[in-house]
Amino acid sequence: MDKVEIFEVGPRDGLQNQAGFIATADKIKLVQLLVVAGFARIEVASFVSPKWVPQMADGADVLAGIGNVAAEMWALTPNARGLSAAISASVEGVAVFGSASEGFSRANINATVDESLKRFAPLVSEAKETGLKVRGYISCVTDCPYDGATPPARVARVAKALLAMGCDEISLGETLGRATPEAVDAMLKAVLNEVPAAQLAGHFHDTAGVALGNIDVSLKHGLRIFDASIAGLGGCPYAPGAAGNVATEAVHAHLTALGYDTNLDATALDKAATFAKGLRA
Ligand code: HMG
Ligand code: MG
Repeated sequence: MDKVEIFEVGPRDGLQNQAGFIATADKIKLVQLLVVAGFARIEVASFVSPKWVPQMADGADVLAGIGNVAAEMWALTPNARGLSAAISASVEGVAVFGSASEGFSRANINATVDESLKRFAPLVSEAKETGLKVRGYISCVTDCPYDGATPPARVARVAKALLAMGCDEISLGETLGRATPEAVDAMLKAVLNEVPAAQLAGHFHDTAGVALGNIDVSLKHGLRIFDASIAGLGGCPYAPGAAGNVATEAVHAHLTALGYDTNLDATALDKAATFAKGLRA
């Protein structure tokens, strides 16, 4: 059976946008339930400025509370300070996160696209030298809340740069969750000229209910890694109006119906989804 990995991002992308502060113990419990469901990799923290995203301020405590588990623990690291905090917290993988559009780049990380790439290069090198795996996110791969439609060539350019600096995998963020299948198709064609499908992940938010269709488009292009958030939690604090990632349970059910093996336990997934729904503000 053809395998597809669901990369669980709920504890980070899902929780980062919740209005009320979620207790550290609840964040830890959510991750533990997800570990039982069988994920190979879970994004559990974000070592960003607590002024920008207060919900993620307890990342080190979350990781300390989880301890050693079978799944790899991943975290977002926007700069050297974030990377050093992630290394101290003993994560297995880190992600730098940029954008294909200038408007979102400035709003989200206070840098132009080129400034961000310059900032990421030494971070990626240091992370790799430390033995960590590294992801590079690209936001706004089809549309930007500030700049409108994103030309596919811009996504391909950023993807090429992230690959060249040593990222093991590039996650393509459809941040607004409204892309047409035609736009995703055109974007993937451009990116696949620079990065092989095996090193790409699809990261679809699901504001307009088009994420599963866009996962189908990505499957046709050979992608076999999809990011998803348990119970569809989330949104991005710097993408007004965007809803959460496509729900992990929905992606699991969809892929299973198509005959793919996700290596996840549906009953344990339901238990995690029920707990996650209780955390929603
Ligand atoms: P800045 O204001 O340009 O940076 O922010 P700065 O260096 O001037 O720092 C500002 C303050 O933050 C300072 O504190 C720093 O010490 C502190 P002050 O002196 O004012 O008291 N600071 C930090 N504190 C803790 N950890 C750090 C850190 N760095 C600085 N690592 C910065 C630049 C990148 C830091 C800021 O813009 C930031 O933190 N942005 C993060 C925004 C964010 O997390 N967005 C959500 C994640 S991305 C996303 O969701 C999209 C994705 O899912 C894909 C998709 O869907 O498209 C990945
Ligand atoms: Mg996201």
